[in-house]
Amino acid sequence: MTQRPILLDIPDSFESARLILRAPRPGDGAALNAGVVESLEELRLWMPWAASAPTVADSEAVVRGAAAKWLKREDFMLLLWRKDTGELVGGSGMHRIDWEVPTVEIGYWVRTSLAGQGYISEAVNAITHFAFETVGAHRVEIRCDERNLRSAAVARRAGFDLEGILRHEARHHLTLELRDTMVFAQVRALPNSSKATDI
Ligand SMILES: CC(C)(COP(=O)(O)OP(=O)(O)OC[C@H]1O[C@@H](n2cnc3c(N)ncnc32)[C@H](O)[C@@H]1OP(=O)(O)O)[C@@H](O)C(=O)NCCC(=O)NCCS
Repeated sequence: MTQRPILLDIPDSFESARLILRAPRPGDGAALNAGVVESLEELRLWMPWAASAPTVADSEAVVRGAAAKWLKREDFMLLLWRKDTGELVGGSGMHRIDWEVPTVEIGYWVRTSLAGQGYISEAVNAITHFAFETVGAHRVEIRCDERNLRSAAVARRAGFDLEGILRHEARHHLTLELRDTMVFAQVRALPNSSKATDI
């Protein structure tokens, strides 16, 4: 349990081999907008926020709102940048935080021109490590529509276990069809003494 998350010292940027992963900042809206607009066809099927093209002002509002949530430890949106070119690769983050445990859920998208190069799997590995070692998470989840094979492949490639499939758990945001949700997770190993087995 984390008593006062706002007091946690959590760096707003970290690295993997090819990426800088950092919290959004005012001024990131134009880069985010270019990445999303380029990728709209691939995103709109799976990301409810990508149903239509955002303006640059929309994207700037998103990054400013996300920066505020980061500071309040309510949600950790991350923008992924290539170290070699400085280009925005995509977005990710630790969402649906439950500080009582703590648990987080990782989400992700890649800009279409940089898909298929392992950037997202690399980011998920780095974020998972950050979640366990820096945020103090005990459980990291990835959830995706059962039909989202590319997303499930990222989870598997990053070493997540499929724990189950929640049947008819939600409706697809475009078709409104009932959808099944795959739940993948990794947990941090516990020392024997810290599991409540006697209650
Ligand atoms: C889900 C999504 C992020 C996956 O993107 P991706 O580019 O397939 O994922 P990665 O960046 O990890 O790349 C993996 C691919 O790169 C290849 N690759 C190349 N170099 C690699 C490396 N160094 N390490 C790992 N994989 C590498 C892998 O073999 C794999 O190729 P394959 O798809 O032909 O098997 C992308 O499809 C997307 O943005 N979809 C829309 C949004 C979405 O659905 N988000 C998830 C919602 S739950």
